Amino acid sequence: METLVLPITKDSLRQAAKIINDGGLVAFKTETVYGLGASIYNEDALRQIFLVKGRPQDNPLIVHLHDKEDIETVAKVTPLAKLIIDNFMPGAVTLVLNKKPCVSSVVSAGLETVAVRVPMDESAAAFLRECKVPIAAPSANTSTRPSPTKAIHVYEDLKGKIPLILDGGECAYGLESTVLDARGENLEILRLGAVSVEDIEKKLGVRVISAKNTSKPRSPGMKYRHYAPKKPFYFAEHSDNGKIIEFLQKTDASQAVIFCTDDMKQNYINYNIMSLGKDATDAAHRLFSLMREAEKKYSVILALGLKDEGLGKSVNNRMRKAAADNIL
Ligand code: TXA
Ligand code: MG
Repeated sequence: METLVLPITKDSLRQAAKIINDGGLVAFKTETVYGLGASIYNEDALRQIFLVKGRPQDNPLIVHLHDKEDIETVAKVTPLAKLIIDNFMPGAVTLVLNKKPCVSSVVSAGLETVAVRVPMDESAAAFLRECKVPIAAPSANTSTRPSPTKAIHVYEDLKGKIPLILDGGECAYGLESTVLDARGENLEILRLGAVSVEDIEKKLGVRVISAKNTSKPRSPGMKYRHYAPKKPFYFAEHSDNGKIIEFLQKTDASQAVIFCTDDMKQNYINYNIMSLGKDATDAAHRLFSLMREAEKKYSVILALGLKDEGLGKSVNNRMRKAAADNIL
């Protein structure tokens, strides 16, 4: 299959909607990462998503809607969910709620719940408006690879497997949405993401609790190895920055690259560095893209964590997941 990469125009949006309504897949940009979309009403298309990505069957998909008023068509909205919807949607927050019967078990991976999101990004909104159906979409990468933040990343992973990538440019956040379970009395964090827990707590005046401390099921996707580049990837906590030098002294440092923010560069003046930028916002924006760039040039990647606060926590979460057991 030929994979077209088209800029967002009236024509390409019309073409995308036709593919979706004929049961095909389209990759599209959101403010977090690129998504790989299918109509929630076409089970063959939904199954294709899992096949194309090599995604485990038990990992449910997020339903993307153009209009937050439509959330009620797919999910049961609780008072707590209403608070999030009023304050953070459209945006980079995803809510897990009890599903309505119209949501296929392929979307929910057999769970009684559904995850819903209303993207803010203009090109995502235009795509969803044109399709006129809710769109189930995971990130548009091959499973376990870093999420795509540019159309070219989607192309690298999925060329020949999907008919169309809508190229809306680079994603504003570069990190996936924050996933919250809003079914009960408390907001539970299932996945750290583009909106920090601190921002949610400050704006709403409520506590966000950790899913680890409860008996409810956690976000199935978080149990898999994720976001990994093709070369060995090591992680050091922010306060363990010296461990990166210790590691490099035992290896061929010319083949290694360090990911760190600008304020930490002076610790590594004799080594290869790829900058994560000046702060956590920059780091979120660059991390996945740098992983894809670094794996082409170097044989080992050493990532220095950010301070474990705000958005830095979300960036560290992705780095730790990519490193798996490779913690310095
Ligand atoms: O920013 C994002 O969220 C992007 C864009 C495209 O919207 N999407 C994304 O999808 O990151 P994906 O499939 O890569 O990650 C979705 C996460 C997974 O960890 C999955 O397990 C969780 O959300 N999830 C989806 N439905 C769920 C449900 N019903 N209950 C618990 N977790 C759910
Ligand atoms: Mg993903």
